[in-house]
Amino acid sequence: MGVPFDKTLCRLEDITDGEGKGFEIELDIFVVRRGETIVGYHNECPHVISPLNWADGSFMTLDRKYILCDTHGAEFQFEDGYCVSGPCMGDRLTPIKVEIRNGDVVLREL
Ligand code: FES
Repeated sequence: MGVPFDKTLCRLEDITDGEGKGFEIELDIFVVRRGETIVGYHNECPHVISPLNWADGSFMTLDRKYILCDTHGAEFQFEDGYCVSGPCMGDRLTPIKVEIRNGDVVLREL
């Protein structure tokens, strides 16, 4: 179980549908959006423990189907962070708990 939080990260509309946004809240984290669904993970690829993105907000594949690690191209499922291709296939991103509350993206647990 992680550390409980109740911190607003941003408004849902600040994140383009199918894209993501990174934050530094004690740790490097990111959230990605699919419609009205939001998920979040530590920004740390299980392959060599490095951040996934090279550019701000760049966390998804071009077709917006998978979360992408820019370093060596690992692809992770949106909903559970499970790696489906790349050098860390079978590993997972570490989840954080986020929710949408009155249009705000709120960090609940780190
Ligand atoms: S660091 Fe992510 S795939 Fe290598």
